[in-house]
Amino acid sequence: MSRRNKITVIGAGNVGATTAHWAATRHLGDVVLVDIKEGMPQGKSLDLAESAPAMGFDLKLVGSNDYAATAGSDVVVITAGVPRRKDPKTGEYTSRDELVETNRKIVGAVTKAVAEHSPEAALICVANPLDAMCHVTFHESGFPKERVMGMAGVLDTSRYKTFIAMELGVSVEDIHGMVLGGHGDTMVPLPRHTSVGGIPLTELMPKEKIDAIIQRTRKGGGEIVGLLGYSGYYAPAASACVMVESIVRDRKRVLPVACMCEGEYGYSGLYLGVPAVLGAGGVEKIIEMELNAEEKAMLDVSAKAVEDVVKLLPY
Ligand code: NAI
Ligand code: 2OP
Repeated sequence: MSRRNKITVIGAGNVGATTAHWAATRHLGDVVLVDIKEGMPQGKSLDLAESAPAMGFDLKLVGSNDYAATAGSDVVVITAGVPRRKDPKTGEYTSRDELVETNRKIVGAVTKAVAEHSPEAALICVANPLDAMCHVTFHESGFPKERVMGMAGVLDTSRYKTFIAMELGVSVEDIHGMVLGGHGDTMVPLPRHTSVGGIPLTELMPKEKIDAIIQRTRKGGGEIVGLLGYSGYYAPAASACVMVESIVRDRKRVLPVACMCEGEYGYSGLYLGVPAVLGAGGVEKIIEMELNAEEKAMLDVSAKAVEDVVKLLPY
């Protein structure tokens, strides 16, 4: 008798609850939602469970404030933390890096609890500043690097592809490409490696248009914060689910993932968004693609930006 996959999502706020929603509607497995707010994960899970007859999924959906409910999870998505918000007085919004002090304490504590109850799980960190929080999850869990990763590149790539599809008036499904680097303004979209139905993007769009899309992608998180007053969650949650799915279904998809680099691309002991094969073993392989001098220089700038935040951590 096979058992269903068990997916835990820590933090039942906007990204966490929406991750549970997408995971359930895609039948990825039973879902446990955990939050410090009493009643909230229980209420959201029950509400989601009550949608099952309409949506047609047979899954166990549990909400809890207690990590005992998470025991034996296959994958844990960590969204607990404080999100970026717009200051109503100044109109300025929190940078991801400003979140480091608050979120490292939250992410550190939840990672310890998760690791104790699910010692074999793959951990997907979502909390910001993403690449630095991956370091926290890695150190506090003590898990091997293959089972500790971060979600950012899938989201940044999804935004990039959306803008290209909008501009060309074509299906998003036919756009292939990747955004590498850290989850910040220095992220590295790769137009030279982007194609539309196999046709190089550079043949289909003038340089100025591509540059504008790259800039919009880099500021994509901020664009949503500017409109909503808080950060987006549909696309972030969907992106986390793409990673969960590749792991629990052992799909071995090639995705941009925040991985611990140990020599790859010339970086050591640093989490950074790089192409990786995701399967049952977590990060099964980091793919080292050839970058030209300009692309490598942009990746170096991005790695430096991540390093500057990582330096603030006590590891
Ligand atoms: P939110 O405020 O809606 O939800 C966060 C939840 O975490 C809240 O319900 C809160 O009660 C809970 N929480 C706080 N401390 C906790 C603890 N110790 N244990 C359990 N739960 C705890 O925020 P949202 O929008 O869901 O964002 C969550 C995080 O994800 C933020 O850090 C945000 O910046 C980040 N994010 C990252 C993205 C990425 O691409 N990596 C994209 C979007 C958001
Ligand atoms: C985003 O990119 C805020 O990191 C979050 O939407």
